[in-house]
Amino acid sequence: MAKARHKQSARASAARIIAEILQKHRSLNGVLTNALEQLPENERSLCQQLCYGVIRWQPQLQAIANQLIKKPLKNKDSDISALLLCGLYQLRSMRIPEHAALSETVNACKTLGKPWATGLLNACLRNYQREKAVFDNLALQQESAKYAHPDWLITQIKQDWPDNWQAILKANNQHPPMMLRVNQQQQTREDYLLQLQQANIVAEELAQTPHGILLKDPCDVYQLPGFKNGDVSVQDGAAQLVASLLDIQTNQRILDTCAAPGGKTCHILETQPDNDVVALDVDPARLQLIEQNTQRLKLKASLIAADASDISTWWDGQKFDRILIDAPCSGTGVIRRHPDIKVLRRPDDITSLAETQRKLLENLWPLLNTGGLLAYTTCSVLKQENEQQIMNFLNRHPEAQEYIPHESPASRREAGYQRLPGDNLLDGFYYVCLHHL
Ligand SMILES: C[S@@+](CC[C@H](N)C(=O)[O-])C[C@H]1O[C@@H](n2cnc3c(N)ncnc32)[C@H](O)[C@@H]1O
Repeated sequence: MAKARHKQSARASAARIIAEILQKHRSLNGVLTNALEQLPENERSLCQQLCYGVIRWQPQLQAIANQLIKKPLKNKDSDISALLLCGLYQLRSMRIPEHAALSETVNACKTLGKPWATGLLNACLRNYQREKAVFDNLALQQESAKYAHPDWLITQIKQDWPDNWQAILKANNQHPPMMLRVNQQQQTREDYLLQLQQANIVAEELAQTPHGILLKDPCDVYQLPGFKNGDVSVQDGAAQLVASLLDIQTNQRILDTCAAPGGKTCHILETQPDNDVVALDVDPARLQLIEQNTQRLKLKASLIAADASDISTWWDGQKFDRILIDAPCSGTGVIRRHPDIKVLRRPDDITSLAETQRKLLENLWPLLNTGGLLAYTTCSVLKQENEQQIMNFLNRHPEAQEYIPHESPASRREAGYQRLPGDNLLDGFYYVCLHHL
């Protein structure tokens, strides 16, 4: 009995992973990282493509599957339901010969220890193959299937962005490009581009960022020249625009409050390595990632594991010249990178996230020196977490004023700046910088 669970194949593993995400609401990255380690190397890429592809298109694939299986399978067979989605995804979107996609998917039922399901999956997938257009057309009549997003999120994005909602949903379904940030303490972007060229990695300057690079194709980080030595980090260009917002000078005491895995902490330090930077995160395991990143990039920060908004537990009483709150948020600007957000987020989350963000802003603001700057950023496109949050804050705090940076990081809003996903190829992001008068 236990043996079947240990059998390996890309399709069977993908089905188990997808079932776990859909049923137990586990994160794609977390489950996938563990599962890939158990798989033979030659199966890993297919497993990863299936997991990302199926989760990205799940509402659409599910609407088709619902037509093929009239009576839903029992919860204990959610791996077989997920395998059907894998089969449909291969037939619709992958360059695998149809006969191979079909037979290998059907065979994976046996790997999952459920040979009884082979007939069922074979019938469903052949049925779909015969009349694809009919099944597709019927499914695409539902808005959630057409745009491959849950209904509540479509409604929310429509409400916030009546002129852009379709473009946002479309951008969320794209494959994200891989972008790098060159460590300006080690070398220039031009020099690093030459190194990439010598390594036969096609890349170009990332417009709008001073140190960013856009790779033509994603690659393993360890193929990047000098990665281990800290020459470069992986970071979307939208996140690379945060450090300059803070207008960092020398001899400053800086607080980065929601810092893990440390992308922005390290960028802040690359700008001025001698500054006194305190990086804080509530999750001790994630704090270790900051440690690894600062070590790799040869930078130094003081790390604290704590709830940033509970200042009595960690603050030493010394104020800061700069504070960054890269707040926990809905992630609705980075769905293309984390498609499981569509499955994991619930409508109620937005209100509770907005409350967490309000508390962080409210409790951390008094820690800023007069004349100092506090940047608040999210990778969300929802106004409740962004401009509404900041408008409310400004109304409560007459001693706070929006600080206008030399270069706009995105499109101007009533308060702050909003980048929608896919604008200039970058992630969706909200930025605002507040000046303590
Ligand atoms: C958007 S991520 C930060 C990304 C990070 N700034 C970077 O650039 O790599 C949000 C982080 O906030 C942390 N977090 C959430 N609530 C927190 C709180 N109350 N205090 C401190 N950290 C918190 C999470 O653990 C998570 O690591």
